[in-house]
Amino acid sequence: MPGRSIYVIGALLVAGLSIFLSRSPTAPDSAQPKTFPGRNNTVLFLSDTHAGLANVHVATSHAILVEYPDLELHYASFPKLEKTISETSAFAAQQNTATKAIQFHPLVGRSYAQSLDDVGFYIANAIQPSGLEGIASLCNNMQDFLMPWTATDYLAIYKDVLRLLDEIDPIIVVVDPIFGPALDAIRTQGRNHAILSPNNLKDNFVSMQPWASMFWKYPAISSGYPYPVPWRLIPANFYLTIRFIYSVLHTPRLAEKKAFLKANGIAKPLDVFTIYQKDYLWLSQGLPEAEFPMVTLPSNLVTCGPIFRSTAPAEQQDPELAAWLSRAPTVLINLGSKVDYDENGAGELVKVIKTLLANSTVQVLWKFNKRGPFSQDVFSEVSDEIKEGRLRLEKWLNIDPAAMLETGHIAVSVHHGGANCFFEAVGVGIPQIVLPLWVDLYDYATRVEYLGIGVLGSPVSAPNWTSSELTTAFTRVLDGGQEALRIKETARRLGEVARKAGGRFRAAEEISKLARMGSG
Ligand SMILES: *[C@@H]1O[C@H](CO)[C@@H](O)[C@H](O)[C@H]1NC(C)=O
Ligand SMILES: *[C@@H]1O[C@H](CO)[C@@H](O)[C@H](O)[C@H]1NC(C)=O
Ligand SMILES: *[C@@H]1O[C@H](CO)[C@@H](O)[C@H](O)[C@H]1NC(C)=O
Repeated sequence: MPGRSIYVIGALLVAGLSIFLSRSPTAPDSAQPKTFPGRNNTVLFLSDTHAGLANVHVATSHAILVEYPDLELHYASFPKLEKTISETSAFAAQQNTATKAIQFHPLVGRSYAQSLDDVGFYIANAIQPSGLEGIASLCNNMQDFLMPWTATDYLAIYKDVLRLLDEIDPIIVVVDPIFGPALDAIRTQGRNHAILSPNNLKDNFVSMQPWASMFWKYPAISSGYPYPVPWRLIPANFYLTIRFIYSVLHTPRLAEKKAFLKANGIAKPLDVFTIYQKDYLWLSQGLPEAEFPMVTLPSNLVTCGPIFRSTAPAEQQDPELAAWLSRAPTVLINLGSKVDYDENGAGELVKVIKTLLANSTVQVLWKFNKRGPFSQDVFSEVSDEIKEGRLRLEKWLNIDPAAMLETGHIAVSVHHGGANCFFEAVGVGIPQIVLPLWVDLYDYATRVEYLGIGVLGSPVSAPNWTSSELTTAFTRVLDGGQEALRIKETARRLGEVARKAGGRFRAAEEISKLARMGSG
């Protein structure tokens, strides 16, 4: 579905909000160990298909295949993910001949991504300014982010997951918290489960921080404010947080859907108050060192560090592109899997690239797709650079993002601030320039500056960008001066810390423990 796109805001909103609203972290511990149904050594993953949501699940299931080949592994998602899952099994079999393939189970209904498409979301109308300017459109969209599915679709998926749970009878289920119908089914059956989401720690656990500091210290979601929030912005930060919470509590458009689901046997459909529960493991690719300072984190949280997919090395995925990468330090411009460019945005980047190539020895790889028709003339300024092969425009990159960064030839990753883009660059230890477009992307831009591992590329013009702002950003990261060296070194050191945390292997280890507990 070219051009029809979605975004993944819902993922962070739903998961984060459950904790905004739930006070369960302070509830007393239950004294008795719980027992759960399920076959020993059997694991089921349940995720959406969109890469932004599924990648942490695919990466972790891959690590389980390689490290714990005796476990029986199942993966249920919408049919589109089947190819990815079989490729993952095939790659794992090369690394450990003892592994058995993941058994894939296609679900009925429409994915989260498709459902958002169905209610009319396009990438172009997802783009919004930060702070007070953007809050109205964010709140207006909340209901759809929370539950994009139609009621009948939600129910059909819920029932399909119930059926699969009976059939597979897993001792542990790993689930994305945005996947409401799946989470409802797991909880209806009282299955043991682990939450695995791509979000960062603040998104999920800010409400647990002492002194209600979510209101005045941590930048409100989509605010774009720095950490700690400066005095003059505290009132606005307070207002944004309240308004955001209200938009989640007040969802008249969902009332009818929820009533239908209740009438059909789901006791508490999509109960955002209870997504977080202290009895169930919460796996995060967040890492305290890669986040604003967090004072309180729950004891059932495991911070695994960046969880990204391991695939064949770049040279195997696309030998020609890999050889090109090795010619010079490369600036990678890739604003996520779905973002395209209007003429103005493309033109501004062309000007920046022109200056950059004229003044340095780097080369540029730009994943570029047009939004609507416009003339190729916007590239006339850099036609020589394209001919010389110092600027490459690609509609699609044949090398997976992490494998690309792992070549060691990427000098800086320019991205839109998506969680996975952020964590891949953190994990590999390279600087980043963020051009945020909506909601949580503003947070990642703020983080990158706060951590000293990169630069916000569009401080004034976001969600647009200008060549002058972006030229400044490139200079700060690439000119070889003091700041550039400091950013490079800080990113490299954070990469070391992140790799020690274990990422997908740590998540796999935790899941394997739960898989082996048996029913006693
Ligand atoms: C961003 O650019 C588009 C045109 O490309 C323009 O319509 C829009 O008003 C700009 N937004 C801001 C916040 O400047
Ligand atoms: C080189 O960079 C400077 C500013 O950083 C700019 O003024 C100049 O135009 C650039 N050179 C070219 C050929 O673009
Ligand atoms: C589950 O399997 C593990 C080995 O994989 C074994 O140690 C454990 O005793 C089993 N539990 C039950 C209840 O059978």
